[in-house]
Amino acid sequence: MTKRALITGLTGQDGAYLAQLLLSKGYEVHGIVRRSASADVVDARLRWLGIDGQIQVHDGNLTDLSCLIRILRDVKPDEIYNLGAQSFVKSSWQQPLLTGSVTAMGAHNMLEAVRLEAPEARFYQASSSEMYGLIQESVQSETTPFYPRSPYAVAKLYGHWMTVNYRESFGLHASSGILFNHESPLRGIEFVTRKITDGVARIKLGLQEKLALGNLDATRDWGHARDYVRAMWLMLQQEKADDYVIATGRTTSVRDFCVLAFSQAGLTMEDHVVVDPRFMRPAEVDVLLGDASKAKAKLGWEAECTLEQLVSEMLEADLERIKQREKL
Ligand code: NAP
Ligand code: GDD
Repeated sequence: MTKRALITGLTGQDGAYLAQLLLSKGYEVHGIVRRSASADVVDARLRWLGIDGQIQVHDGNLTDLSCLIRILRDVKPDEIYNLGAQSFVKSSWQQPLLTGSVTAMGAHNMLEAVRLEAPEARFYQASSSEMYGLIQESVQSETTPFYPRSPYAVAKLYGHWMTVNYRESFGLHASSGILFNHESPLRGIEFVTRKITDGVARIKLGLQEKLALGNLDATRDWGHARDYVRAMWLMLQQEKADDYVIATGRTTSVRDFCVLAFSQAGLTMEDHVVVDPRFMRPAEVDVLLGDASKAKAKLGWEAECTLEQLVSEMLEADLERIKQREKL
């Protein structure tokens, strides 16, 4: 029997890669997309992956419980992936209440809709390493205490504990993936890795001279989104729902990410990067480094893409995109 999956956040980075993975496995894929006045940009990532038109799209919003109930009633999914969120940490200080209503209450709305309409379905919640914030252990695992440092992280923590609570209270097959940072050519341009590869590509092509960044000393455990959506799927194939850290086990500073990207383009970072306080945060997460040994033991999951390969793929894609856009 063909399995049916429903994805919230279909138009984002992970939604697009997850939809591609599920289609390749023969799933019937449905996605919730919020209405936009700029319809042409809505499925840009799906077009980039060549899967637009293969997904059944439902007009909806995580803040509207009634529409989530209606969609679940219509679709009757076997698997539900809740990836929708206000996901940019910096914006969560500028729009804290919106972040709470989408990222925290949106997850709760989804859980409530699942409890009412699809209690047999398997549910995935997109939790985040950002919940570790002011880290309480040098390497973070499923047992490390959380210490959120942004409205986004507080909202994610709410969604995480609600997922655990609905599993324990109502017996839902609800799993939470505590994913460390993952990137790709489809990463939003505001996130630091994509900002860097786009900036390096523009400098290489002679379109700009300087790249303004914030805290160069922060370090992140960066993987490839394609590897990470595979982990989401694996979690929902397990007999028992559970929570898993997904990470590479290697942490790199923003500065060293820059060094790598500039050197891959034959450039020197120091000639181009300037620090601009506008990109600093009111409270920073200095270091993230994950221990994914539980995922390796129970899911058989490991990151396959190295940081060097990730940077190269992102840079190539940005060079190509800019050449086409600028007709170079
Ligand atoms: P993303 O590219 O920012 O995508 C977010 C998605 O959420 C978009 O499809 C967006 O739709 C949708 N969305 C926003 N507000 C919504 C609302 N009110 N109702 C319905 N949908 C809404 O994020 P991502 O990188 O793919 O991440 C996927 C999920 O994993 C997010 O929950 C994120 O917080 C979490 N996460 C990401 C990482 C990472 O490193 N990427 C790590 C840990 C956890 P529009 O296209 O209309 O904006
Ligand atoms: N965005 C951005 N822009 N970040 C910068 C810049 C800049 O110009 N300069 C330095 N940084 C630093 C930030 O201060 C942060 O320490 C680090 O680069 C990474 O920032 P982002 O790429 O914006 O990602 P994030 O770690 O805050 O959040 C991402 O990962 C989380 C998982 O840990 C997002 O994808 C979240 O949704 C996700 O949960």
